[in-house]
Amino acid sequence: MSDIQKAAGIIQEGGLVAFPTETVYGLGADALNPYAVAAIFEAKNRPTFDPLIVHVADIRQAEILVHRFPEKALKLIEKFWPGPLTIVLPKSSLVPDIVTSSLPNVAIRVPNHPMALELIRKSGRPIAAPSANPFGQVSPTTAEHVRKSLGNKVNMVLDGGPCQVGVESTIISFVEKEPVLLRPGGLSLEEIEFIIGKVLIFKGSSDKPMAPGQLLQHYSPRTPLRLIPTGEIPATQGKSGWLGLQNPPSGFAVVEVLSQKGDLKEAAANFFAAMRRLDEKNLDLILAQPVPDQGLGRAINDRLYRASYKPQK
Ligand code: TXA
Ligand code: MG
Repeated sequence: MSDIQKAAGIIQEGGLVAFPTETVYGLGADALNPYAVAAIFEAKNRPTFDPLIVHVADIRQAEILVHRFPEKALKLIEKFWPGPLTIVLPKSSLVPDIVTSSLPNVAIRVPNHPMALELIRKSGRPIAAPSANPFGQVSPTTAEHVRKSLGNKVNMVLDGGPCQVGVESTIISFVEKEPVLLRPGGLSLEEIEFIIGKVLIFKGSSDKPMAPGQLLQHYSPRTPLRLIPTGEIPATQGKSGWLGLQNPPSGFAVVEVLSQKGDLKEAAANFFAAMRRLDEKNLDLILAQPVPDQGLGRAINDRLYRASYKPQK
């Protein structure tokens, strides 16, 4: 029996399977089985107020999860599915409340990865999956990352190699009259607005987020991470690490360059793995330089700000 066949059986029986997508690895369970979905929250140690994205193989499989698709949503779906785009819409009664944390809306996407699609098809189930990391920590972009942090909590980890996009999907809500960007991600706002015109940008409160990716502190390494304000010379402190698009000035013990040629797509693909490598080096401080705030740079900066956030005591 193939690995995917075995994994599909696990999903059907209510188990947990970590699987690759083009963005990050997901921790999947049968979205229509509330007990299986509960196991996701338990494994991630995730507060239950965080709703999950439901992964489907195509729009037909999504149709039963919602009432209807507004025209602009259909335009995006046609252009960008499979791909790093999640659509939020009022849910049908088929979707268990635990999936949406009792919100009346459900988030759906079609991942662009052959193993993910085959897993969904073979299991015959929509698969609810958050990123496969313990809550609040750095998202996994390889199977090895998943094995290290959640290996003993899942029934199986499917290995599809490193994720090509490297940051989570872009989330657009169609619940209100106008489309709203809830989370910048692997599909740029520019590409989206090119197809459907202006999209509002959600600026929510930190305490009651509509998406935990909106929590001020998120995607955090254990090592303190500080952002270098634009135009300032970074002040290293003890053994410091550099996380930036290109080369740093001297004085850093460890250097992670996201894209030597300054390509934001390449930078996104390297981002979480670079942050993890720095976190494993026992540094006193990670100094990170924001990247240009355009295209996928917006998603990288969003993660950097949250990774650097320290709550005021
Ligand atoms: O690329 C991705 O989106 C990855 C891969 C595995 O598909 N998944 C992912 O899931 O990033 P997660 O759980 O780490 O982040 C999902 C985000 C959360 O911020 C959550 O609050 C938001 O989606 N979300 C899910 N359902 C929602 C809903 N009904 N309304 C608003 N936001 C929702
Ligand atoms: Mg996550």
